[in-house]
Amino acid sequence: MFTKAIVRIPCKNLVNGLTASNLGKPDYESAIIQHQKYVQTLKDCGLDVIILDADEHYPDSTFVEDTALLIPKCAIITNPGAPSRKDEIIKMKKVLIGLFGNLEEIKDPGTLEAGDVMMVGTHYYIGLSERTNSRGANQLIAILNQFGMTGSTVSFKEGLHLKSGVSYLENNNLLVTGKFIDKPEFRKFNLITVDQDESYAANSIWINGNVLVPQGFPKTRKKIESAGYKIIEVDVSEFRKLDGGLSCLSLRF
Ligand code: GLY
Repeated sequence: MFTKAIVRIPCKNLVNGLTASNLGKPDYESAIIQHQKYVQTLKDCGLDVIILDADEHYPDSTFVEDTALLIPKCAIITNPGAPSRKDEIIKMKKVLIGLFGNLEEIKDPGTLEAGDVMMVGTHYYIGLSERTNSRGANQLIAILNQFGMTGSTVSFKEGLHLKSGVSYLENNNLLVTGKFIDKPEFRKFNLITVDQDESYAANSIWINGNVLVPQGFPKTRKKIESAGYKIIEVDVSEFRKLDGGLSCLSLRF
């Protein structure tokens, strides 16, 4: 169960965030409203939400998930692979020192963004992407091992982060799309497959028995609902324009 979340209010400079999609620039006012509703949804799921101020220096800074991995006994500060995002960790470090006594860090030449890290109990799958390299992954695995946890890597070429294409919904259920469907690493799970035309919805998040699903993906919503979950739809269309999804907008712990 999660009890807390950290989010950062989108900055006006959000419109200049990184993107590989051709969906146009996000509308700042709409993004603010969507973010407020997202925060309310986290609260409705029982989380205390720590809301950080907007940071105009970093267009992508609302995607806080990439800056840290929070495990039960420790906060691990990442080392984002995107040059424009590297220094987002400075402010996050200050926030997490206050919340976790224990901080570990991923360091150069290792890079890691936690959108590439999927928790399954005490095991963490780490996607090797354009943002996360094997040195970063190996550093993370060494840290996890110190705390009695394990990690393994997953190579992929499709999408920005591992969790752009695969999400663990607890109870051995894995939401999965595209080439991830055939990955041998994921054969042991009950796969809930997301059709290619709804692939964005593969980034859905389990929070305390609920599954938050992006608004507008009815086939995926139905499949997750059929697996027995309570669904909460959240409109994140403005963040999608920057390749960001539901998981990217918060650190949950
Ligand atoms: N726009 C989010 C990212 O590329 O990290």
